[in-house]
Amino acid sequence: MTPGREAESVARAEEQWRSGTGAPFVIADAGDDRALGLVNLQLGEEATIAVSVFPEARGRGIAPRALRLAAEWGLEDLGLECVIAEAAPDNEASIRAIEKAGFERDGVRGDRVRFSLRLAG
Ligand SMILES: CC(C)(COP(=O)(O)OP(=O)(O)OC[C@H]1O[C@@H](n2cnc3c(N)ncnc32)[C@H](O)[C@@H]1OP(=O)(O)O)[C@@H](O)C(=O)NCCC(=O)NCCS
Repeated sequence: MTPGREAESVARAEEQWRSGTGAPFVIADAGDDRALGLVNLQLGEEATIAVSVFPEARGRGIAPRALRLAAEWGLEDLGLECVIAEAAPDNEASIRAIEKAGFERDGVRGDRVRFSLRLAG
């Protein structure tokens, strides 16, 4: 990403947090606080969550943990009824990560596979 694009992306994240339209988080290593990826809960008509883990940190279960923590925060602390995650049908790593986070597969909408997580009980 170019410095211009990075600055735009940080400004967009700050604006989302300020306006309450989204909750963008950096995933940080609990040991040394190094950034490992991003998880973003979008608070539109429905709440949707997306995650990306930086290439060097992939394959360690970071995305499922981040998806679960951020979605549970939305359900429990923000009172959301449901959090949606979507993936391209050929993005196996993303589908696995969403399933490992405990989301249930709802089906296909357009060109995306949809999953949802609700509070248990
Ligand atoms: C999809 C993504 C978020 C998964 O993150 P992660 O922290 O690596 O997730 P996991 O460690 O649970 O691995 C998930 C699956 O990725 C695959 N995987 C395992 N090691 C991997 C590696 N080193 N590199 C890439 N994928 C790997 C496996 O299929 C794994 O499933 P398994 O544990 O059942 O074998 C990450 O690959 C990513 O950021 N990709 C690019 C952005 C993207 O596609 N985001 C999703 C859009 S919503």
